[in-house]
Amino acid sequence: MTSSSQDWDSSRYAQNARFVSDLGQSVLELLNPQPGERILDLGCGDGALTEKLVAAGAEVVGVDGSADMVSASRERGLDARVMDAYDLTFSNEFDAVFSNAALHWIKRDPDTVIQGVYRALKPSGRFAAEMGGHGCVAAIVVALCATLETRGISQSASFIPWYFPTVDDYRLRLERVGFRVEYIALIPRPTPLPTGMRGWLETFAIPFTNILPESGRGAFLDEVTQRLGPALCDERGRWTADYVRLRFLVEKK
Ligand code: BEZ
Repeated sequence: MTSSSQDWDSSRYAQNARFVSDLGQSVLELLNPQPGERILDLGCGDGALTEKLVAAGAEVVGVDGSADMVSASRERGLDARVMDAYDLTFSNEFDAVFSNAALHWIKRDPDTVIQGVYRALKPSGRFAAEMGGHGCVAAIVVALCATLETRGISQSASFIPWYFPTVDDYRLRLERVGFRVEYIALIPRPTPLPTGMRGWLETFAIPFTNILPESGRGAFLDEVTQRLGPALCDERGRWTADYVRLRFLVEKK
């Protein structure tokens, strides 16, 4: 997806964050893809869910801002293209747009992306998506910012790369563009981290670590992890991230 300083590495993602696509079943069910439908997967990543849309009989185009993720998708035999979410080039051609765990990386101008999705859909086309919602990874965000501040970096909140909207905020944006909202909800979803907090931070917190000199990054991540232990690590050393999802289904009027 479009995200200023997040570097995507498909093998690191597969190792530390496979759970993101594994937990995409609910939004797939909300979309309810039908055989023969033409579907756009926005922020397709390495194609794990795109493949499920194809298995449902849909004709699917995946787009992602990361060339590495797109080549991982193509290795699965998918039609995947490098495309910036701010510059979707499609017009009136999809029965549905699907998106999982991508829209929270669209911080600068979410409306432009929503407009691009609206344009891409045929009349009555639907848009089903799941993204981080208000309060998502709040403890992790606070620990990252507080630890940056101990390194003399003020205004640490300006480095937060994610947009985690409320229901009211995102509903308004969707309706302003012309969508009819069928379903929208915030869903707290504590999420076990198979490779611990360190694996999560190394995969997703790159916009924070990139601010620091390379020599200080390991110690920074150690300190963030240590701060989070009392809140997110249990007595057996198992980590759970404080995820909140925003899930919605809307229709082009
Ligand atoms: C996710 O992909 O689910 C995610 C990434 C960064 C922050 C929160 C969630």
